[in-house]
Amino acid sequence: KRMIGIMGAMPEEIEGVVGLLSNCEVRSMGQRSYFTGQINGIDAVVVFSRWGKVAAATTVTTLIHEFKITELLFTGVAGAISLDLKIGDIVLGKRLIQHDMDARPLMKQFEIPLLSKTYLESDATHLATAQKAIEIVFENKRLHTIFTEEDLKAFSISEPRLFMGDIASGDQFFSSNEQKNNLNAQLPAVLCVEMEGAAVAQVCYEYEIPFSIIRTISDGADAQSHIDFPSFIKKISSKYAAEIIKNIFLEL
Ligand code: ADE
Repeated sequence: KRMIGIMGAMPEEIEGVVGLLSNCEVRSMGQRSYFTGQINGIDAVVVFSRWGKVAAATTVTTLIHEFKITELLFTGVAGAISLDLKIGDIVLGKRLIQHDMDARPLMKQFEIPLLSKTYLESDATHLATAQKAIEIVFENKRLHTIFTEEDLKAFSISEPRLFMGDIASGDQFFSSNEQKNNLNAQLPAVLCVEMEGAAVAQVCYEYEIPFSIIRTISDGADAQSHIDFPSFIKKISSKYAAEIIKNIFLEL
């Protein structure tokens, strides 16, 4: 039986999604609250994982063992690495990489020990579903019914775009141009950076759980990010994530 796990790394990233649950119940374990119920008639469990790879990995493991999830959706924000990306754009992670994994000289930089893998891949069916749902969210004027004009203006969000490609994760908040340039030089295909996706991807790969990572750009992963990130989280994140998840469940 289908049971969809939905994770976010910040309370604001899942608050709106919890609001979509019917027959909502909560169970607390290990300083996490797991909200169960149905969205559009499909069983789901929603949880705020906390930040970073360890927090994300333990949370997804609990979702697998305790809640028997059959698939996993991650929704959250990321800092832009590619210069093509603007605040408000959405990135679907086709491949996830851990940018702080480095066991050289035992293995190549970024390779995950014992898996003989550097990149972990999202599920193609999930990506196609998410793509369709996000295109609907981006349809004519729809964002103007979700957000206030003031908030859209504050972040210069007018015609956000959807990208698909590599996402890098690591236990670092990017807040300088130097960090951004370094990552871009090492991994030029990476679109954006966050702190959980590739950890979730590793656990899901090991347990053969199909997953997809959906990230909204909240900041430029640069000297401005400590200002843009909290204000995006406060004003945009929750509504955006809820709208994306709602539309994904309509496509399932
Ligand atoms: N998530 C959102 N913005 C980020 C940044 N600048 N660095 C790491 N993770 C992020």
